[in-house]
Amino acid sequence: MEYTVKSGNPEKQRIGCVVIPVFASRKLSSSAKIIDKASDGYISNLVRRGEIEGDLGNTLLLHNVENTLCDRILLVGCGKEKDITVNNFYKINCNMVKTLQSSGATEIASYLTEIPVKRKDIRWKIQHSIEAIDECLYKFNQLKSKKEETRRPLRKFIFSVNGRGQLMQGEEAVRQGMAISAGIHLAKDLGNLPGNMCTPDYLAKQAIKLATQHNNVKTTVLEEKDMEKLGMGALLSVSKGSREPGKLITIEYSAGGKKQAPIVFVGKGVTFDSGGISLKPGAGMDEMKYDMCGAASVIGVLSACADLQLAVNIIGLIPTVENMPDGIASRPGDIVTSMSGQTIEILNTDAEGRLILCDALTYAEKFDPDVVIDIATLTGACITALGAHPAGLLSNHNPLANDLLSAGQTSGDRCWQLPLWEDYQEQLKSNFADMANIGGKGAGTITAACFLSRFAKKYHWAHLDIAGVAWKTGTHKGATGRPVGLLAQYVLDRIKAH
Ligand code: BES
Ligand code: MN
Ligand code: ZN
Repeated sequence: MEYTVKSGNPEKQRIGCVVIPVFASRKLSSSAKIIDKASDGYISNLVRRGEIEGDLGNTLLLHNVENTLCDRILLVGCGKEKDITVNNFYKINCNMVKTLQSSGATEIASYLTEIPVKRKDIRWKIQHSIEAIDECLYKFNQLKSKKEETRRPLRKFIFSVNGRGQLMQGEEAVRQGMAISAGIHLAKDLGNLPGNMCTPDYLAKQAIKLATQHNNVKTTVLEEKDMEKLGMGALLSVSKGSREPGKLITIEYSAGGKKQAPIVFVGKGVTFDSGGISLKPGAGMDEMKYDMCGAASVIGVLSACADLQLAVNIIGLIPTVENMPDGIASRPGDIVTSMSGQTIEILNTDAEGRLILCDALTYAEKFDPDVVIDIATLTGACITALGAHPAGLLSNHNPLANDLLSAGQTSGDRCWQLPLWEDYQEQLKSNFADMANIGGKGAGTITAACFLSRFAKKYHWAHLDIAGVAWKTGTHKGATGRPVGLLAQYVLDRIKAH
């Protein structure tokens, strides 16, 4: 999709369709008023007759409106002008796209940038219009032999800004929106690919590809023999149950100067989680191909940051394995030694995420990180606790947690903090090793984070449990690309603050 910005009156746009907001109840936006005036009250007449109420979900497509230069005008209901949330802004854009897709228009001038969204400026609105439009148009068709062709696909969106003074900001927002949206798209594609295609080796190849696209990105891949030398007994105990060799991928993006301590993102890359010997039930097991969505979000956010050439240093660390049952797979009761030297009793082979993450967290120390943030589809308990709206957030450093909460508010890709209190640590006691890999009954998301915290003592660390947000189930099954939006916003905020 092509995106640009432009200032100018709506009735003067010589284009396939002009999109205009209408608020509840029957309240015209300023662009609607301008068109209304030009067309001798055509719009206000329609509204008075009740053709469109202005509620969220309403749309009304008009053709050949008098004294306008466009082929069509699409009125889009936005709900009450005073309470338009970030989520509603996404829905409004999506309603627009769905109606446009069956309209025949290919080039669009959108005045939805006029919509007041609480505490959001024009840059935010342009950036997120792009993310919303791409989100709404996303399809994963690459493995279908018959592709559904759209009759006349949308080609171009022009976002309206208020006067020439906003053009520069607008263009910057377009660049940002397109880069982040491409990162989200990449994360979705990786997530949606099945386990027989998206293997640890495939993820490594994707990370290497990122390095070929940008000269300040460097990718290195540790193989199982390298990890043996480093003593990564926890990670290797998971990968040994699969024919697919496990890997530890490091992506280094260096655009922030030699002395700047890096942000380290660690993404769980379990390309398929059968549960291992503690086998999962059959129903819905296909969705465990999404157990590498943490890794996908790390690749996605690095791709966005590198596209924008943001002046920061970021390390992406991806421990990637497949969790399978096999003759040599780990058994419940096995005890392994992690890279940190701490021993772990594997009471459940399905709690494998923490086993691969703990060694990656120890490995992260070598980068002298400013902060380490891990992203993982870690616990079903997180879905029970928070559902599909926010990711779970746990951290050993409150300022870092607050930065992430705030980036969530700004981006709309939200997270919600859970307590990482000492009190929970005792649930991890083992009679035979330094700790067990499960915390028993209650607070599964917190005890998983407690486990990780024991490997993250040397730096400021936050953990995002994305089990509930990384993909949708049911008829709309598919990866969401979350939390690429959150992480990208976190990086952008930091650049501003430093
Ligand atoms: N990848 C799963 C977590 C998961 C399950 C995410 C369902 C999304 C949907 C993880 O590896 C796992 O199996 N966790 C176990 C931990 C338990 C054994 C302590 C879980 O949540 O059941
Ligand atoms: Mn598991
Ligand atoms: Zn898992």
